[in-house]
Amino acid sequence: MSAPTVLKLGGSVITDKDRAETVDGRALARAADAVAGHDDLVLVHGGGSFGHHHAQEYGVSTSDGTHEVDGVLDIHNAMKALNGLVLRRLHERDVPAVPVHPFSAASRDESGGLTLPAGQVETMLAEGFVPVLHGDVVAHAGEGVTVLSGDEIVTSLAASLDASRVGLCSTVPGVLDGEENVIPRIEAYDDVADVLGGADTTDVSGGMAGKVRTLLALGMPASIFGLDALDAFLDGESPGTTIA
Ligand code: IPE
Repeated sequence: MSAPTVLKLGGSVITDKDRAETVDGRALARAADAVAGHDDLVLVHGGGSFGHHHAQEYGVSTSDGTHEVDGVLDIHNAMKALNGLVLRRLHERDVPAVPVHPFSAASRDESGGLTLPAGQVETMLAEGFVPVLHGDVVAHAGEGVTVLSGDEIVTSLAASLDASRVGLCSTVPGVLDGEENVIPRIEAYDDVADVLGGADTTDVSGGMAGKVRTLLALGMPASIFGLDALDAFLDGESPGTTIA
């Protein structure tokens, strides 16, 4: 088996952010079309309009948890529902996609450090399946349950599976500079600190600044690109912004 590609489909790409628990059918169909025919692929999708509003309702983020079972299940079940819809679209295109629900396997320690076993994903790949994981909730020591973002899953799996390529398919065509042009390559946070700003972002997972920081720490090149460039990425190109 060759080293896999780990690809995240952003929640805002495949769902309609303005309508609760609604997929963006056209975007999801385009993503599924692009994925069809590619193997050695691990997919991760975000929450979009399925995960985030439940998480907000219960005041749950990647660091602030809940012990309320209703909250845990609302978030987890919404994400499983989205996962089911993603799988269905992939199956319509004969992609051998199988679900992996991170809540059943992952945990965080008291400082938020994530443990996500990858053995089953590795075996699924070796057997020719396309594992499809999703942003989820995760048992968190001292917090109850917190949010597990798709980006965290991507970086964790990329490292443990020794991925050959990492891609984040986003609603923007890459990391944008002050004039809205795509920055082709980022090798150090200092290169982009003035356009991405400091710690003033409100997104629970740190927005684009957080993504760039996390991907720089990954130690392997990763691409951030838009849906228009998904085919190119899967064909081996490096569209959008390469973070290396
Ligand atoms: C969020 O995952 C999961 C939940 C809110 C449960 P992500 O943070 O990866 O989702 P997107 O891609 O930003 O929507």
